[in-house]
Amino acid sequence: MTFSRQIKIAPSILAADFANFGAECRAIEDQGADWVHVDVMDGHFVPNITFGPATCAAIRPHIKGFMDVHLMIAPVDAYIEAFAEAGADLISAHLEAGPHIHRTLQAIRATGKMAGLAINPGTGIEAVVHLLDMVDMVCVMTVNPGFGGQKFIHSQIEKIRTLRKMIGDRPIHIEIDGGVTVETAPLVVAAGADVLVAGSAVFKGGSVGNPAPYGVNIAAIRASATA
Ligand code: DX5
Ligand code: ZN
Repeated sequence: MTFSRQIKIAPSILAADFANFGAECRAIEDQGADWVHVDVMDGHFVPNITFGPATCAAIRPHIKGFMDVHLMIAPVDAYIEAFAEAGADLISAHLEAGPHIHRTLQAIRATGKMAGLAINPGTGIEAVVHLLDMVDMVCVMTVNPGFGGQKFIHSQIEKIRTLRKMIGDRPIHIEIDGGVTVETAPLVVAAGADVLVAGSAVFKGGSVGNPAPYGVNIAAIRASATA
């Protein structure tokens, strides 16, 4: 994939209908999603449980494009191979998920997949300095991981700006995850983000049986981000 800082909208299927993931993935891609963001939670690293590699593998054939897998699990290393085999294009692990994040990123790269480094709102950006050469993306969490529909934490904008400077011209994406809406998207893009995860703002409680205008929501976020 050629590197580009063009804005990418990555709907999070955490806000989709869990009984209809296949149809939901097809719908968001048909309606303009650039990436599909898949939130894996273990009830240990974060206080919520979603699903594991088997579900990712089941979803994969319903995604034509890029599958962005966000692991909110600890430990991570033992499961990397399984998520790679499940068809992830990019696997993100949390800096806070264990004492050996460098080793975890090496293990992700060893599978041939792109490596993402996710950081919690309470983690200082200086912690990523010695990891930047190991990653294809840094995911700046703008909510505490675990649940969709939380309020955007504005203090993270300064962090995004600093990270953008640290990255310079290296081919590293900056993803923002949590509370992205038409109001907050322009703020994070101005600070340097290029991948916008949006759960509630895209799905807005819709489902296949009660279709929400996903395309309208995706287009509105993109328009606000690129205005
Ligand atoms: C939170 C997840 C996010 C979440 C975003 O732990 O990592 O991807 O689904 O949801 P919204 O857009 O509703 O904040
Ligand atoms: Zn996420």
